[in-house]
Amino acid sequence: MTHTATDKALYEAAAAIRAKSYSPYSNFAVGAAILADDGQIYAGCNIENAAFPQGNCAEASAISAMIAAGGKRIKRIYVIGTGAAPVIPCGGCRQRIREFADLDVEVISHGVDGDPLTCTLDYLLPHSFGPEYLSK
Ligand code: THU
Repeated sequence: MTHTATDKALYEAAAAIRAKSYSPYSNFAVGAAILADDGQIYAGCNIENAAFPQGNCAEASAISAMIAAGGKRIKRIYVIGTGAAPVIPCGGCRQRIREFADLDVEVISHGVDGDPLTCTLDYLLPHSFGPEYLSK
């Protein structure tokens, strides 16, 4: 499912919030947009900090927006960032997405100057640990 109306809406939401990225240290602006189970789109950008490890990735910001607004599950997520190479979630964000998404959810990674790449979460985070391990 690529190049659909949904992906266009996700792309536009991710690109719009990417413009608000606070990334003065890396100059690598990222936006992420989630289609949630409630049908809404939630977006977030990366927010850096002078104490570098304290920065937030765009995916983490988008998940925060989803949870704060009452969304529960990620149905699709679109990430867009600087350059031509697909901007793919970091390891930590793959695990963050794993918390709220089924393994067959598609993650679209896009560099503004290139083409999008679509992968399932299972492909990005194989043999993963998730919340079901901790349920009774
Ligand atoms: N970054 C994201 O926000 N998401 C990604 O998928 C890759 C990297 C951010 C973290 C940092 O602010 C900057 O991009 C450079 O690593």
